[in-house]
Amino acid sequence: MTDTILIIGASGQIGSELTAKLREIHGADKVIASDIREGNSELVNAGPFEILDATDLKAIETIIDKYKVGTVYLMAAMLSATAEKAPMKAWELNMNSLFNILNLAKDKRIQKVFWPSSIAVFGPTTPADHTPQTTVMEPTTVYGISKQTGERWCEYYFSRYGVDVRSIRYPGLISYKTPPGGGTTDYAIEIYHEALEKGSYTSFLKAGSYLPMMFMDDAIQATIQLMEAPAENIKIRSSYNLGGISFDPEEIAASIKKYIPEFHIDYAPDFRQDIADTWPNSIEDKKAQEDWNWKHSFDLDKITQTMLENLKKK
Ligand code: SER
Repeated sequence: MTDTILIIGASGQIGSELTAKLREIHGADKVIASDIREGNSELVNAGPFEILDATDLKAIETIIDKYKVGTVYLMAAMLSATAEKAPMKAWELNMNSLFNILNLAKDKRIQKVFWPSSIAVFGPTTPADHTPQTTVMEPTTVYGISKQTGERWCEYYFSRYGVDVRSIRYPGLISYKTPPGGGTTDYAIEIYHEALEKGSYTSFLKAGSYLPMMFMDDAIQATIQLMEAPAENIKIRSSYNLGGISFDPEEIAASIKKYIPEFHIDYAPDFRQDIADTWPNSIEDKKAQEDWNWKHSFDLDKITQTMLENLKKK
């Protein structure tokens, strides 16, 4: 197995931080960043970067051969809110990119795959509090349907073809380095930007909309821990639940007020409210704890403090 890593979707919210962290661990030359667009100059200049369309199998093959890639992190996807505006396009991107990578692994052209799933795999009939690993899953968004289908295919490729594919159901991810692209949980990032810029925020989710959330550093840590765990410890080949914290717009506003006392929130729910209403309030992640020692470390106030401090510097 070669130790070269390819990240597809490296310019995105998760991809950019994952690339930086993996380069820190393995060395810049061992981590090939790729995306359909160029990311920030830091990412592009810090190591190899290739323009790559995740649905273009030939182009992926060329890069895999060129760099002798062993592991692929497939981070390219259309997120929940954007996907609702272009369902077929979202389905094609989210599924075809996954099949490209799973088939390369099946043919032993690459050895290991990471593919992100999401809390969007759950739906209105799922128990909403401390949602367990195994439960009712009837997603109602095209994004959720693509992630749930993807999970089934990951498990199939593992049991049928022995593909070493690993996955996490990410909660809403909060970060300050790269903006998110078109998710329902994005309000929890916008709120920090606008708290600093305007002192107020109009939330597209209403008070009481609890969602599972996590700080990006925790999510990156989890991803690397999962990928470094011995294969025999990975008991779940669909995707692992990953907890973290849970809050609603009111609680995040209260946390911001500890640092910006005059901060004010109001509410103008839009179509994303309907999406949020179908997702869990909080997630139970016992399996990740048992199988690869997962534990999150950022609570809401620590997230608020880190977000405000770093966005202020920007
Ligand atoms: N954060 C994502 C979204 O809101 C969920 O995976 O679409």
